[in-house]
Amino acid sequence: MSDSLREQYLRFFSRHGHAIVPSSPLRPENDPTTLFTGSGMQPMLPYFLGETHPLGKRITDSQKSFRTQDIEEVGDNRHTTFFEMLGNWSFGDYFKHEQIAWMWEFLTQELHIDPQRLFFTCFRGNKDLNIPRDTESAELWKKHFSEVGIDAKIIDFSERDGMQGGKIFYYDEKKNWWSRVGAPAHMPVGEPGGPDTEMFFDFRPDLGESCIPGTPFSGKFCHVNCDCGRFMEIGNNVFMQYRKTVEGFEELAQKNVDFGGGLERLMAASLNNPDIFATDLFENARKTLALLSGKQYGENEHETYAYRVVLDHIRAAVFLIGDGIIPSNKDQGYFVRRLLRRAVRFGDTLGIENNFTVQVGEAFITTYASAYPNLALESASIVAELLREEVKFRKTLEVGLKEFQKLSGDIISGTDAFILFSSYGFPIEITEELAKESGKSVDTAAFQEELQHHQELSRTASAGKFKGGLADQSEKVTAFHTATHLMLAGLRQELGKNVHQAGSNITDERTRFDFTFPEKVSREILDRVEAYVNKAIDSGAQVKSTIMEKDGARVAGVEGSFWEKYPEKVTVYQVEGPDGMVYSQELCGGPHVKTMADIARFGRFQIQKEEACSAGVRRIKAVFTAS
Ligand code: ALA
Repeated sequence: MSDSLREQYLRFFSRHGHAIVPSSPLRPENDPTTLFTGSGMQPMLPYFLGETHPLGKRITDSQKSFRTQDIEEVGDNRHTTFFEMLGNWSFGDYFKHEQIAWMWEFLTQELHIDPQRLFFTCFRGNKDLNIPRDTESAELWKKHFSEVGIDAKIIDFSERDGMQGGKIFYYDEKKNWWSRVGAPAHMPVGEPGGPDTEMFFDFRPDLGESCIPGTPFSGKFCHVNCDCGRFMEIGNNVFMQYRKTVEGFEELAQKNVDFGGGLERLMAASLNNPDIFATDLFENARKTLALLSGKQYGENEHETYAYRVVLDHIRAAVFLIGDGIIPSNKDQGYFVRRLLRRAVRFGDTLGIENNFTVQVGEAFITTYASAYPNLALESASIVAELLREEVKFRKTLEVGLKEFQKLSGDIISGTDAFILFSSYGFPIEITEELAKESGKSVDTAAFQEELQHHQELSRTASAGKFKGGLADQSEKVTAFHTATHLMLAGLRQELGKNVHQAGSNITDERTRFDFTFPEKVSREILDRVEAYVNKAIDSGAQVKSTIMEKDGARVAGVEGSFWEKYPEKVTVYQVEGPDGMVYSQELCGGPHVKTMADIARFGRFQIQKEEACSAGVRRIKAVFTAS
């Protein structure tokens, strides 16, 4: 059923002239600024900014997506970490009129969703941002409603007045604006974004203007963005037409459409069942879990929660491992580890004591093999990794649980939580969950401090040393400095986001650069880092410096060591290609070259040497060679 919905969507857009492309991997291929592919548009970014897509201006796909911020939300009927995002894009081709007409047709004619159940939101406009109200989208939805005999009211939404019988609502930029980093205030200079119009399904039209009773959200009025569970967002049409500048926003050279809709959610709406874990995508795995645990899904609340966590986490781990991300203690790998360890813990609460992630994982591979053939191809290694991680964790789990039980008092200190983390492999949320079960709490702030302290200890130099790292401000030294930024971005892309600068020393002969990493870096990887730097140089990228809010910069994935040492506003140097590719984004005080031509004239960038510097720190020497 979900297989056919996916097919139906792709075929629908194919009929409307879209080329169907396969999903990109969950580990972003060309984007050093983010750990995972979390939406369908991420791999499409260059084409919004003018690069030509080889298959044309209309593209559609179903993109594997993983959102780390949803790990803790999993357990209700709608949140998952992994999901499939159905997407269609216009790269400077069609715009609002076609997109809204097609969406209306797809929902009402293809999925046969009753228009009475549909609600839409549009951007209210913001004078300070100089972005107008999106009346066009609102009127287009209204027109489609009227064609089926529904007089849809358009309401400027306010919590105080509720829905007032409306079908179409204006919300501000906190709700109806989309960019990779969220609302306009969070966007770094250069980031594209735009107003959006979102589509909602009402699971409980019988409730009038009220929330689902008994939920913590049952306020005076319900509304489409309320969290009570009555309404579910089933898709988002983003009109990618702006780009952040130092002063505000400018129009992109082309007007783009970025649509994303969760396959699971569209399925839930078409089945009129808000529980996405009840869809056929989870059926095989649900049955396997039922056999293993002797418990049926949906029997009681506590177990249903555990079921969902196990189902979500193992599915996500299967897809991540399938894309080559294996459980480890760093970056992407650490998320896979957390998912699996958490799944094991919740498996325990379902009474499953033996290794089980393999069986549940295999059930998912069966379900998804035809849509994602790489899962079948990689099944042996996926299974091996699941088994390895579960066995490893179970070994420490028992000892760790004993340690945990020894802890007295109502509050688990940061130090104890850190010991459980570092010696027994307990991700912090496991300690928190164990604490909760025994009526205790965890000093997570102290844990985070402890963790940070530990991470800092494993770095040697301070950011202060950096300034003195440049021998002078000559052109060549400056070129080396910018190239060093690119090298760090390349290292972080290859080795993970735990890699940071630990010191640097640049003369007009070479750059010497120290960075945090525990082991020898292979020549193969160094070659790739070198290629990354040279590719950036060849691309003719420009270097821009921007003043940003520190928090905004951090959210946007800007690289920097010792954030706490920086003031609230920071300077970020960004190396950006003509296609919009961001090669490096780093906190820095300069100086840097203006364009890549200023580097290219010194030759090719070459890494000559990589060696240990001190515990947990490696040192690279790199030069320019005549090309
Ligand atoms: N890129 C938009 C989203 O992820 C469609 O919601």
